[in-house]
Amino acid sequence: MTSPFLLSTWSFSEPILESEYPNLSAGCSALDAVEACVRNAEQDESIDSVGFGGLPDRNGNCTFDAMVMTSPSSSGAVCGIERHLHPVSIARLVMEKTNHTLLAGTLADDFADSHAMESANILAHTSEQKWESWKKRSRDTKPLAPFDHGHGQLFGSHDTIGTIALDSHGTLAGACSTSGMAWKVPGRVGDSPIVGHGLYVDPKRGAATGTGHGELISGVNGAFLVVDLMGRGATPLEAIHETLDRIVSCWDIKKEYQVAFIATTPEGKFAGGALRAGFKYAMCNSDGCIVKDPELVMLD
Ligand code: GLY
Repeated sequence: MTSPFLLSTWSFSEPILESEYPNLSAGCSALDAVEACVRNAEQDESIDSVGFGGLPDRNGNCTFDAMVMTSPSSSGAVCGIERHLHPVSIARLVMEKTNHTLLAGTLADDFADSHAMESANILAHTSEQKWESWKKRSRDTKPLAPFDHGHGQLFGSHDTIGTIALDSHGTLAGACSTSGMAWKVPGRVGDSPIVGHGLYVDPKRGAATGTGHGELISGVNGAFLVVDLMGRGATPLEAIHETLDRIVSCWDIKKEYQVAFIATTPEGKFAGGALRAGFKYAMCNSDGCIVKDPELVMLD
């Protein structure tokens, strides 16, 4: 019997993990646990880059991306969701009810309808107001790199929730969800719904999830790279370090860029690392729940 635990990006995750951990320790599966955690974030209007309350694109429309994964042969994702509040649950339906990996846009919403998922308005009034004010200020204003002060207090926008669970049977699962970059070009899809970019889970090698500037993560297949490096013998910290190094060597790193990863081995040895200061992650195990500083900050 393995000692179960939950890991998740950003300090806003900590109360969510705390509420879901008792179910995981009582025997719920890693997949059920990560879906439940991410659904919590999706319905929390105060989290402005995941689910309801997420910031819209340049035209004022909100779209959601999400993924679930338990192994290279078992993943599901959706992108460009326009009418459903829980993209992570549609992603799970894709994984469990189809032979496909990714469904996109209005056809993914139709797929959710066909599985009796209730559709809803996904643009919160507060998000609309923030878009109106961004539009008045300057359409060229770039979103700031998020800065997490801990206990859910953030400066700038939040970013993707990525959650990893190891259950009492030793099974790993991951899920992530985002409304994507604030004020994005309509149609833009980031790293989160793409296998190996925002999330990767391989029962033999471990699991990793990324948050931050999706284009940078996608450019190096970030989550896959972290897990692959662990499979070749790197510790989670070494694997994250090498992946962030690769990003730094490929991109001109602007001040608004942030990228962070959390990762675990199949045995539950984990770490977090970020490009710059301002990232935190949450962890829950049988000893309790804490918000952690990443073990590695590359720049600053
Ligand atoms: N990391 C989320 C995104 O760039 O869409």
